[in-house]
Amino acid sequence: MPRGPCTLQSLQTKVYFACYGSIVVSVGKGMKIWMNGSLVDAEDAKVHVLTHALHYATGIFEGIRCYESGGGGNGSYIFRLHDHVKRFFSSAKIYMMDVQYGFDDIVDAIIDTVKANGMRNCYIRPIAYYSYGRMGVNPLPNKVDVAIAVWKWDEYLSAEQGIRCMVSSWRRIDARTMPVGAKATANYANSALARIEALKNGFDEAIMLNINGMVAEASAENVFMVRDGVLCTPPTTDGALAGITRDTVLQIAKHEGIMCEVRSISRDELYLADEAFLTGTAAGIKPIVMIDNRKVGDGGVGVITKRLKGIYEDVVRGRDERFVKWLTYVEMDSSTATKP
Ligand SMILES: Cc1ncc(COP(=O)(O)O)c(C=O)c1O
Repeated sequence: MPRGPCTLQSLQTKVYFACYGSIVVSVGKGMKIWMNGSLVDAEDAKVHVLTHALHYATGIFEGIRCYESGGGGNGSYIFRLHDHVKRFFSSAKIYMMDVQYGFDDIVDAIIDTVKANGMRNCYIRPIAYYSYGRMGVNPLPNKVDVAIAVWKWDEYLSAEQGIRCMVSSWRRIDARTMPVGAKATANYANSALARIEALKNGFDEAIMLNINGMVAEASAENVFMVRDGVLCTPPTTDGALAGITRDTVLQIAKHEGIMCEVRSISRDELYLADEAFLTGTAAGIKPIVMIDNRKVGDGGVGVITKRLKGIYEDVVRGRDERFVKWLTYVEMDSSTATKP
């Protein structure tokens, strides 16, 4: 797997790369992307340069993961598929999108795309966007197109020893300006600025405060801290996305008898946390060991963080009976299944 920034040369090969931090994602030759009802070759999954969403950020998307079953066999599990598709349609509703496919169509299309690519561990990206037709800020005259791609994305934020975060100078978008409950492409301009700032300053990730100075979330993850044995995360009303991993962690914690609070967190409280971590579909559970050059706790991965991370990794692979309700089993065709 190539690493480092995309080069012209890499783009000229018949493999298409998208860069996320230092991780290169490849959707290569022979792979399939679902576009408006059919599976097409990845090379042919193209959009017009005058696509409305490209100019005005009028798209919504999801990030879902599929994990190789931890119980052997030839299958994989898509984690919380129905919850992700529900959020996909909620985001579309907020942007008044007339999606031509129903809930079950999208669920089936996601499963078909995973199977068609034979990837037992993959990241799944469904996107709906106002398409090519009429330019101008009003998106409504344009058709809404839908696409689903999958790729191998092992480590969104690497560093198993824990990551170092900075509190960004960019404030998280505010609900009075943008609908923060929608997982919209537009929101990620704010995320991208924060992440660029963090990377350029030598950190792994940015934590953003809301306009009232309280912790909102990271560029693509929710934020948790542990103080005096209590697990805390900010409420969605402070600007946090209703993350599905966030909800998963809260539910696991309750089953484990860990005290949880969904409440506002100030910047200085983060500095005084005993433990802190980020959650997200792409990142999983990522321990934070330093914030703004201050050690979190003793600077190592916290005990509760380690415990939750271990359980989470079992849950997503079907190794924890208590949460199998969250898994959608996908049987891979043994002739096409690859083990990326
Ligand atoms: C801004 C933002 N916050 C939080 C999350 C975590 O959400 P989830 O756990 O549903 O992936 C994401 C990832 O999608 C995100 O982009």
